[in-house]
Amino acid sequence: MARRKLIAGNWKMNGNLAALRELADIQAAAVAHPAVDVAICPPFTLIAPAVAAQPALAIGAQDCHEKVSGAHTGNVSAAMLKEAGAKLVIVGHSERRADQGESDALVQAKASAAVNAGLLAIVCVGETEAQRDAGQAIAIVTGQVRGSVPAGSTAAQLVVAYEPVWAIGTGRTPTVQDVADMHAAIRATLNDLLGAEGPGVRILYGGSVKPDNARELLAVADVDGALVGGASLTAAQFVPIIEGGAAVS
Ligand code: PGA
Repeated sequence: MARRKLIAGNWKMNGNLAALRELADIQAAAVAHPAVDVAICPPFTLIAPAVAAQPALAIGAQDCHEKVSGAHTGNVSAAMLKEAGAKLVIVGHSERRADQGESDALVQAKASAAVNAGLLAIVCVGETEAQRDAGQAIAIVTGQVRGSVPAGSTAAQLVVAYEPVWAIGTGRTPTVQDVADMHAAIRATLNDLLGAEGPGVRILYGGSVKPDNARELLAVADVDGALVGGASLTAAQFVPIIEGGAAVS
């Protein structure tokens, strides 16, 4: 099953209006490498200005509320993101699972809300270092997939991002074999959950993806793209990762 690689940037709580200048070179790289999908997820306040700056670049959010509207002070719904011009939204990032105590059930509800609003949902999963050291990584992550992926999701609506918590922002990455084993386990779980749609769902790797390791990671079987934090903040770092994805597509 042919899956287009997706190279998605997660700016986290970084960036400002001036930083949107980076998007011009990122969009130019997306045009130069049409076999690869490219997206940037800036903070909420930069979504509309990012869309205005680069209307052809896929812009996304880093979270959404699970409800459409209501008395939820400080939250933003998926429909609001859609209206602001977002095409996708990250849900269940490990920083939110840790900082905001988000459960699999909540992440699943957020992913459903995203899909219902017409957004692509990137559902994040990943084990802690203690869980890996205890030999539980695959059980933990496949359990998160089962708990966080909405039933009936299609390959056009859903992306899963495997991000080992201990690899995020640390400069450390799993071995290529560990990535291959985990992505194969996630694929088997998606096939079990989603039937005929499972083989089409893209599974991204995230956690310290950089220009110098992107190509090797993106060449691994069932690695269908990358979710990139720190190295997505500048075109100088992000464009070589897009190029790495194109080279192995
Ligand atoms: P990193 O972050 O690339 O800075 O490790 C990845 C992520 O958290 O999505």
